[in-house]
Amino acid sequence: MRFPLSLSVAIGAAALLGAPAHALDAAAAVELAKASGCYSCHANAEKVVGPAFATIAERYAGDKDAAATLAQSIQNGSKGKYGRIPMPPHASLSPSDLKLLSAWVLTIKP
Ligand code: HEC
Repeated sequence: MRFPLSLSVAIGAAALLGAPAHALDAAAAVELAKASGCYSCHANAEKVVGPAFATIAERYAGDKDAAATLAQSIQNGSKGKYGRIPMPPHASLSPSDLKLLSAWVLTIKP
């Protein structure tokens, strides 16, 4: 079944309104990523031990649950999505740190 156009427009507008009211603090996210050791396994544009952050952002483009999925992966670890090397858990990050990191990863372009 096709949605009527007016409904699609309403859904689009709701998606826009759901966007964060203030811009993501990318500088704070980079500092946090450095301090948390993310860059020992990741780079923005190339695969290191883990996938490039840009590859991750591409994979989740258009997925409205992406930030929540990534926050969980960062906290609990992840395996089998990109290759054979697993990511260890990062259990000491606070919920707000996880939120910032996952939202920021999704903005990274190659
Ligand atoms: C010891 C190496 C290592 C460290 C440290 C590391 N990662 Fe990863 N990361 C990986 C690997 C390997 C994968 C791919 C896992 C897979 O295939 O499922 C990955 C995957 C990811 C994903 C994708 C998860 C998904 O569900 O698609 C995100 C996001 C991510 N890392 C962010 C981070 C952040 C943020 C940090 C710092 C807090 C970090 N990583 C630290 C190795 C690492």
